[in-house]
Amino acid sequence: GSHVSRGSRNFIPLDYTMMTEYATSVVQHVRPTESELVMKDTILRRISDICNNLVPGSRVVPFGSLVSGFATKGADMDVIFSHDTIEPQPSSMDSNIPIRLANEFLKRGFEVDLLIRTRVPILKVKTPSPGLEPGSRPSSPSAEHVLKETIEEDPWPENISCDIGFKNHLGITNSHFLRTYSQCDPRFGEMVLFIKQWSKNRDLNSPYFGTLSSYGYVLMVAHFLINIVQPPVLPNLQLIPPEPDTPLSEVSQDGYNIWYFKDLSRIESGDLLPGGKNEMSLGQLIHEFFQYYTTNFNFVSEVVTIRTPGGVMYKQEKGWTSARERVGEMTTYQDRYLLALEDPFEISHNVGRTCGGAGVRRIRGEMQRAAQMIRKLSTPFLHENAGRHA
Ligand code: GTP
Ligand code: MG
Repeated sequence: GSHVSRGSRNFIPLDYTMMTEYATSVVQHVRPTESELVMKDTILRRISDICNNLVPGSRVVPFGSLVSGFATKGADMDVIFSHDTIEPQPSSMDSNIPIRLANEFLKRGFEVDLLIRTRVPILKVKTPSPGLEPGSRPSSPSAEHVLKETIEEDPWPENISCDIGFKNHLGITNSHFLRTYSQCDPRFGEMVLFIKQWSKNRDLNSPYFGTLSSYGYVLMVAHFLINIVQPPVLPNLQLIPPEPDTPLSEVSQDGYNIWYFKDLSRIESGDLLPGGKNEMSLGQLIHEFFQYYTTNFNFVSEVVTIRTPGGVMYKQEKGWTSARERVGEMTTYQDRYLLALEDPFEISHNVGRTCGGAGVRRIRGEMQRAAQMIRKLSTPFLHENAGRHA
């Protein structure tokens, strides 16, 4: 359908049909196939076995896009190494686990990388390339063989890498939280996949090199759909109070308020959105997302939050004004507030801390460019002309 763009000077009616078609095809293309999901499941079980072999009773718990449903094709898997310490182990032994585990994966032909300059250690393991795995006998129906067959059946992707973390930091909880939001409206997941792909194409998704993580982009999309677009696409699940008999474990974890409304039947019935259902197309939502962050949102003074009523806070009131050093386990690192994105549970944590000045400028510039391109594509007069040169 065609819509009148509220922000435009001349009230040119924009037609988002083409943008919606384009975005839908991008989303279809980047979604992982069913066979990739099956393969990842097999790999996860194998990784869990290896962990359990080294530390009996341990396992890996998935989080991140695997849980939230925001995974793109070939995406890394995020897991937490977890073991219920029945008899408390000496801490010196605990801190050795990442190294000992790294050796276990090496022995089995995995590519291994242990990152220690991060907030907490991360063990990156990549499945063995077919044919390189030591000790694999194609004639035996071993786990390795089954795994190899699954990989060879589907020529893509070659191998999958898995990040193993050793501290939770509410990652599992916030992944389930995002999954609940994604079940409220399919346009949330579609927007996330599109924005993730856009950020990767434009080289804006490298937290190690001064731009923003996928998780950061997810929070930016959620903020827009909960607090900015009118009527909202998503209700604010953190503002609906818990019933008095709610177990404490659903309300608080490590001293953080982790409550959010989880009753999907009431979410689907729509009575949590008093303003009525938002009927905007995917194309229009993406355009308005880019427009909001380039023209309305003030990167200098404002904080993106999804928890707060209204969704806007100021850096001043959070004390997020000047960069400071924090001492991590193995290294000190910088906390910066150039792009301020409040974590929904760990509210003192700035998810945008990885962005430097150049990174923020590039993200904003690319958003501006994207908004202009969508405007051109959606302006009927211009696009008739453009069609000839396409
Ligand atoms: P891809 O890896 O690009 O597919 O995206 P993803 O959805 O897995 O997100 P990402 O790898 O950026 O983050 C994984 C999970 O880490 C998130 O879902 C959060 O649960 C958790 N997390 C918590 N705090 C942070 C943070 O500050 N940065 C990042 N990157 N992740 C965080
Ligand atoms: Mg990830």
